[in-house]
Amino acid sequence: MDLLDLKDRVVVLTGGCGAIGRIIVKELAAHNARIAVNDILEESDSAPILTAADPSGKRTAYCKANASDPDEVSALFDCVEAHWGLPDVVCCHAGMVDAHPVEQYPIDGFDKIIDVNLRAAFATAQEISRRWTAAAKPGHLIFTTSWVQDVPWPEITPYTTSKAGMKAMMRGYARELAADNIRANAVAPGIVAVGLAKRQWDTDPSYKARAQKAIPLGFMQPPETVAHAFLYLCSDMAKYMTGSVLLVDGGCSLYPMD
Ligand SMILES: NC(=O)c1ccc[n+]([C@@H]2O[C@H](COP(=O)([O-])OP(=O)(O)OC[C@H]3O[C@@H](n4cnc5c(N)ncnc54)[C@H](O)[C@@H]3O)[C@@H](O)[C@H]2O)c1
Repeated sequence: MDLLDLKDRVVVLTGGCGAIGRIIVKELAAHNARIAVNDILEESDSAPILTAADPSGKRTAYCKANASDPDEVSALFDCVEAHWGLPDVVCCHAGMVDAHPVEQYPIDGFDKIIDVNLRAAFATAQEISRRWTAAAKPGHLIFTTSWVQDVPWPEITPYTTSKAGMKAMMRGYARELAADNIRANAVAPGIVAVGLAKRQWDTDPSYKARAQKAIPLGFMQPPETVAHAFLYLCSDMAKYMTGSVLLVDGGCSLYPMD
């Protein structure tokens, strides 16, 4: 029996067209999962991303929605149910970062980070939890946090705050809904070689200098290592896990190196 075979599993991934998301989709599709990919991109922009991750086209479906808008989240799950019924795993993965020193951080920018990182995760988890409990169906929530959930990092305090909040949110869902057979866990990546961190690495020399010193393993995180953590958590290998953070960060959180 292959415990990593996900052929009976339907997975939803918010922010799934992003740099890490598309690698997760590819990995899960390669293990036979069906994945409903959510993002705010237009269908025409999402199509080549889904085709690259799932050339057969049989294992992916796109459901556009702003994950921080409860009405759109409801439409997102209607879209998923129309394709494959209620999902088994819902990954609250959409996120954003913006860097400014705390004294200059625009308050609107703070609100935007909290909206995309925290409110979207709460709204998504809330809507699917309602549907799972109404159907008496077991479910699994996976939240994408970050190693900075526990470690301050200059110029992204609203982001670190949101990820610390997301960790608390994950534990809250895990504790409150365990009796309904709903589990919740988090994946906490490190400094990944694509997406948010790579953009900062490429555009902000002071970030690059700090980040280079902050990874004990000595190199930026391959996105496939994040996808492997999702594969494990989506599989039956992780079925006794709830309320846990799977830290996959190359040792970044071991000690403050900057
Ligand atoms: N890149 C890293 O080093 C790193 C490290 C730790 C954690 N993370 C987390 O991983 C996740 C993905 O990051 P990434 O680096 O791939 O970023 P990314 O910018 O490449 O992808 C984010 C995706 O989320 C989508 N999105 C934004 N707002 C949305 C909304 N309201 N509703 C639905 N989708 C929305 C974007 O369109 C984009 O496709 C984020 O939660 C991020 O915080 C990233």
